[in-house]
Amino acid sequence: MGLSLLAYALLAVMGIWMFRARTLRQAEPHWLRSLHYIIGVCMVSLVLLLLLIGIIGTYGHFGRLGQSQHLWAGLVTVALVLLSAGTAVQIPVGQYWARSVHIGTNIALFVAFVWVSLTGWSVVQKYLP
Ligand code: HEM
Ligand code: HEM
Repeated sequence: MGLSLLAYALLAVMGIWMFRARTLRQAEPHWLRSLHYIIGVCMVSLVLLLLLIGIIGTYGHFGRLGQSQHLWAGLVTVALVLLSAGTAVQIPVGQYWARSVHIGTNIALFVAFVWVSLTGWSVVQKYLP
């Protein structure tokens, strides 16, 4: 989770950088877009991995899912991450509406990350003596 938060922070910095460069018509290093993309793919993989671990762990332990709000928080996070990635690939092929959706989704994703972390933490508390 720490790694996905790190990835999110890096993506946010690069995204804001690209946004500034575009609106102020400044030059930006050409590696910026590729690196944003690569780190984006890493973040998607990390979140999917957490989903997999969460589901397998919970299912193995309780034999069923839905122990807490954390399930919903997790599913919402995954949905937003996939939406963000899905709209991201539309931007370079000329679908400019996708840019606003990409940015909006990523703001919502921040809230989802906070929610999934807080609920995840409260699930952890249940296991501590
Ligand atoms: C899910 C993983 C992500 C992928 C695969 C991804 C990929 C992309 C791509 C391909 C673009 C279009 C670049 C272009 O104009 O050609 C883009 C733009 C952008 N991304 Fe991401 N991104 C991801 C996550 C994020 C996150 C988490 C943030 C911020 C928290 C972010 C912020 C931005 C911003 C602000 C832009 C707009 C740049 C502009 O206006 O020119 N992205 N992203
Ligand atoms: C994107 C991030 C995350 C996703 C997508 C995710 C997803 C999930 C899902 C779907 C479950 C099954 C919940 C249920 O059926 O009730 C789960 C369980 C769990 N998650 Fe997460 N989670 C994430 C982050 C976290 C974090 C940050 C923590 C800890 C601070 C955490 C701790 C746990 C624990 C302790 C369980 C129960 C595991 C078990 O019973 O063996 N998760 N997670």
